[in-house]
Amino acid sequence: MEQKKEKRLKKWLKNLVGDLVDPEKLGQGNKPIKMHQIKLSSQFDHFHLIPISDLHVGDPQFNPIKLLAYEEWIMSKENAFVVLNGDLVDAAIKNSIGDVYGNAFIPGMQIKLVHKLLEPIKDRILAVVSGNHEDRIFKETGIDISEWIADKLGTWYGGDEAWLEIHVGKGKNGKPIVYTVYMTHGWGAGRTPGAKTNNLSKMKEISLADVIIASHTHFMTTHHEPIRIPDIRTGFVREDKIVFVSSGAYVGRPTYAVRKGIPPAKQGSPNIWFDGRRKDVHSSI
Ligand SMILES: [Fe+2]
Ligand SMILES: [Fe+2]
Repeated sequence: MEQKKEKRLKKWLKNLVGDLVDPEKLGQGNKPIKMHQIKLSSQFDHFHLIPISDLHVGDPQFNPIKLLAYEEWIMSKENAFVVLNGDLVDAAIKNSIGDVYGNAFIPGMQIKLVHKLLEPIKDRILAVVSGNHEDRIFKETGIDISEWIADKLGTWYGGDEAWLEIHVGKGKNGKPIVYTVYMTHGWGAGRTPGAKTNNLSKMKEISLADVIIASHTHFMTTHHEPIRIPDIRTGFVREDKIVFVSSGAYVGRPTYAVRKGIPPAKQGSPNIWFDGRRKDVHSSI
């Protein structure tokens, strides 16, 4: 919106509600989203991004050894980085679907355990977003435990979603290669692998990026989709691709999964490989 017009409307809003509330607190409207910029070393000829989600710490089916095996691998490589994509705790609380008596530890202990378990790789974590299991606590108390965990690990917190702009390596022109990543915890998507994959693919209808990462389904998968973009600067249609990644889980088959006939999850995380010399991304599970 034109600046002069915005100023006029803000003044009008202040006249209307200013004696009741601070108009700034009424809402921010369509505030532009700033991407979180990350500058990795220009020496890297590639880097790995490992999305970690759905630990469900507190669920007796959580697999800490699997998590530590990934952490060990990450720490063994100077160019391996991590994003945390929600459901780090299980947080079965009294009004949630999960079995409130079934958790091995109370939510307070679950949060402490997540911090302790992720501390060894805290310098590798590029971003954190929240999941629906953390949101249960927010809904009940107004306390955002994902923000607390991100704070404690000294990393950046995006809330419900994150846009990352990652600079790495050096292209032929001497400038870094720049990638965009969109990540959010995600939502339910039907029972079949096809339904889950379609749901992941449909995310491009809302947000475009080089890599789109979602979680929640505990279904680890990845696929690439070609995309054609008309470029008015060159007059050519540019061929590109979007890499879709669903990040999996670190929990076996909780009781709700048994009751609902949901199969066990393939545990662990995908590995997203970004080239640092020319723009290219690969992903493997
Ligand atoms: Fe989950
Ligand atoms: Fe979830």
